[in-house]
Parts: sequence; C-alpha cells; structure tokens
Amino acid sequence: MKIIVTKSDLQGIGADLLVLPFSSIGLQHEGERALLPYGINVQVLKSFKADAGEAVVVYGGSQEYSASRIILLGTGEGKKLDDWRKAAIAFGSKAVELKSEKVVVDCSGVEVYASAMGQSVAKIIATLVEGCYFGSYRFERLKSDKLDKKGVDNKSKKIAELFVVVPSEVLVEAEKGVADGKIVGSCKKMARDLVNLPGNYLHAEDISKAAEESGKKYGYDVKVFHKKEIESLGMGGLLAVNKGSDHPPTFTVLDYRPKGKAKVVVALVGKGITFDSGGISLKPSENMGEMKSDMSGAASVLGAIEAAVRLKLPLHVVGLIPATDNMPSGTAQQPGDVMTTYSGITVEVGNTDAEGRLILADALTYAKQKYNPDVIVDVATLTGACIVALGYTVAGLFSNNDTLADEIFQAGEQSGEKVWRMPLWDLYDEQIKSDIADVSNTGGRGAGSVTAAKFLEKFIDGHTNWAHIDIAGPSFMPKSGGKVNGGTGFGVGLLVELLKKLS
Ligand code: BES
Ligand code: MN
Ligand code: ZN
Repeated sequence: MKIIVTKSDLQGIGADLLVLPFSSIGLQHEGERALLPYGINVQVLKSFKADAGEAVVVYGGSQEYSASRIILLGTGEGKKLDDWRKAAIAFGSKAVELKSEKVVVDCSGVEVYASAMGQSVAKIIATLVEGCYFGSYRFERLKSDKLDKKGVDNKSKKIAELFVVVPSEVLVEAEKGVADGKIVGSCKKMARDLVNLPGNYLHAEDISKAAEESGKKYGYDVKVFHKKEIESLGMGGLLAVNKGSDHPPTFTVLDYRPKGKAKVVVALVGKGITFDSGGISLKPSENMGEMKSDMSGAASVLGAIEAAVRLKLPLHVVGLIPATDNMPSGTAQQPGDVMTTYSGITVEVGNTDAEGRLILADALTYAKQKYNPDVIVDVATLTGACIVALGYTVAGLFSNNDTLADEIFQAGEQSGEKVWRMPLWDLYDEQIKSDIADVSNTGGRGAGSVTAAKFLEKFIDGHTNWAHIDIAGPSFMPKSGGKVNGGTGFGVGLLVELLKKLS
C-alpha cells in the first residue's frame, strides 16, 4: 500500500473511494452543509448517526470530486482514540469489500480531532494508517484461486494507494504519522500472517527462518539455536515439550542494538508453540485447530522487534523465542514426569497441556542470566482461564513491579491493545507445590492464569522488573462471523508503545 500525504484540496483527486469522517457533533452542526458539495442527498442523514465505526457507502456524488463511491465514516464523539481507530478499521475493511484501489481520506479536520483527544497530529494519522492496514487485512495465501502460478497472491483487490489529505500546516507531522503507522501496521500484518499459518505450514524452524529473514532485511542480529545446541545448553523445558514431536525445536535470539550507547536493555520473550494438541493430556477435538495460534506471543515479539528496528528506537531490545509443537506420541513426555529446566529447577508435569510455561521457563532464565536486562516482558497464549476472566479483547497483565505495570497499562491505552492487571500474591504458590519436585506445572482448580504466572515468576532468577502478558484471548478471534477473525497481531502495538516509553 502506497500512502501519500497531501495538502491539495479534495477537488481533482480522482479516487475509487472518498472517505469523509464525521463526529456525531460535527454531523449535527454542519452535516447538511458538508454533504452538499458532494451532491449527496441529505436524506442519508436519517440513517447515518456517525457512531464510531459506522460506515455508510453512498454512490455517485458530484462529478467535481470524481469519486465513484463515498464513505460517510463515523468517529463517535470524536474524543476517543479508540473510536478513531475503530473508524479507521471500518473504512479499511469496507474499501476491500468495495474493491477500491485508490482511496482518499479527508483529514482536513485532523487538528480538531488531535486536540479533542489530547493526542498529537502524528499519533492521529499513525492510528488511521494502522487501522487501515488492520481493517484491509485478509489472509488469502492458501486460497488457490487468489494465487498466480508462482503461488503469489496478486489477484485479490487491495488498496493500492491511500491519499491522506491534511491542512498544509501539519503536513510534516502527518508524514511522520504515516511513517510510524506504516511500520506498526505492516509489522502487525507480518505477525497475523504467522499466526494464521496452520501447523503444517509453520514449524519451529519456520519461525526461526522468519526471524532470520527479518534480521537480514532490516539489519539486526538473529541467532538460532538448533536442537543440538538446545541440548548442550540443557533447556530441559523446551526439550520435554518437544519430546513427542517429529520436528526439532528452535530457540531464536533476536538482538537489536541502536546506534550509539543504549541506556536501557529490554528482553521480550514470546511463546512459540506452533501447534498445541495438549500432548498426552490431549485437548478435546472441538476447535483444537485454533491451537495453531499458540505461537502468537512469538509472532508479536518478532513483529515488535522489527518495528523497533525500523523506528530506530534508542534502546537495546533482545527477543527470545522458544519454539516447538506440542504433540502426543510414544516418545512424548507423560503426565507425572519430572524434568530439569535450564535454571536447574525441577518440575513435575501434572499436565502436558500446560506446556507454554515449560518452554518460557527456560527462555526467561536465559534472558536474565545472559543479558541481565533492565526489563523482562514475556507474551504468551498461556491459559484458557485468562479468556474466562477477561474475554477475547483484553490481555491479562502480571508484574512484580508497579511502575512497569503502569507503563504497560498506559501502552495498552495508547495502542488500543488493552491489558488488565491481575495479582501475583505468594499465597497462590500453595497451588503449584509438588511432593516430589521443586514445583508443579499445574495449579488445580481456580485462578489458572495466576498460578501459571506464579510458575513463570520462579524462573526469572530474582529479577525485579518483570511482566507477563497472557494474550490467550485477544491474539486470535474464533470464527464468529465478525469482521476480524483469526490472528490479530495483538501485542505488536502494545510492545512498541512500551518500548517507546522505556526509551
Ligand atoms: N495454549 C493453551 C492456552 C489457550 C487456551 C490459549 C485457549 C488460547 C486459547 C495452553 O497451553 C493450555 O493448554 N493451558 C491449559 C493449562 C492447564 C492444563 C493447566 C489451559 O488453559 O487449560
Ligand atoms: Mn497447552
Ligand atoms: Zn499452549
């Protein structure tokens, strides 16, 4: 998608689709007057209320503006960034439905929105661009009719050019917003592609390859540890989960160092289970296919690091991605087994379906011991219990540091990827005690997300600035007939906002 910021007035920009944003108040005050030049029948105002994300398509319009279609786009009261984002997603999606290739968005009111929301013009425009990427995303690479002979998807009609029309005073700021929005939007798209790839298309080695490709393209270091090296390191958690698999595990380390001396070192750890069958503690077959998304944490770490590199954020970021599938077989780990993690801590495996915490345990200890980072954040589709608690739009946040927790909460508000903090009191340790090993990987009934987080906490080796984000809910939208389904890329925007705050 080519994005062009322009100050030219709307006249003369020929487009397939012209998008006119309205707040509900703006619509009341000047709706009729605003529609007149476009030759739009004011009767449409009977049905268009400018609710956030409401997108009414009107055909024709006046010749002067030469757009074959116009979208009246609602931004709600025009005071909330979330409403603005919702609107951007809505027009992106509509543009694809309408097969519009050249789209023009009238952002001549961007300063009004910016001041009403207490945001910069750049942020408003970045959110618009990001939302457009998000709404226009479709995963079609496995649809044979959309592919050419080489298997490349170039048949589906996507937005080819997006023109953003702004007042001339804010042109430079808007350009900055477009640049930022493009980076976050495209990194989120990459994450969604990885999440949407089924288990037979994406094994641990493929995650590592995706990281290596990104590293090569944008100039940062990626080191992949293969099975032999993982064995010599003694990563017992990752190896235990991989025991049932026909595909070797990988442990990928992404290392972005900015130019000049970085003041802050941040480690991002992402769960990379390419398919979670549950292992011997097999999951029920209904919806098991959704467990191809169990590497969403890995995808968002990769997406966030690529974004940090492209945004040239001034901090040292290390990504750590343990990856394998979790399969049952004659060689698979069994419930009741005890193994020794990279840290030396022994774990009784009460349930082989609690595998995420086993691979994360090794990665967390490695992050702490190897890099001694100022901040450690792990992102994982860790527990079904977190969906029960917070649903499909909000992630669970656990942290041993109030300042960090607050920063992540704020990053959630800014990025629209919301988190809600849950407790880490030691009283929950009772539930993960083991009779025969140091700790059990299962916590029994109740507070499943908390006991999972308490388990992880044992592997950070006393680090005092750690957070765990459980994205089991918002990482993947089950087929519900809604606009967005499948991988969402949740975590990319959140982590990028956090990295900006930490730098
Ligand atoms: N990957 C799952 C968690 C999950 C469930 C993510 C639904 C997304 C949607 C995780 O590995 C898992 O199976 N957790 C178990 C833990 C239990 C066995 C202690 C769970 O949540 O049931
Ligand atoms: Mn599992
Ligand atoms: Zn899992």
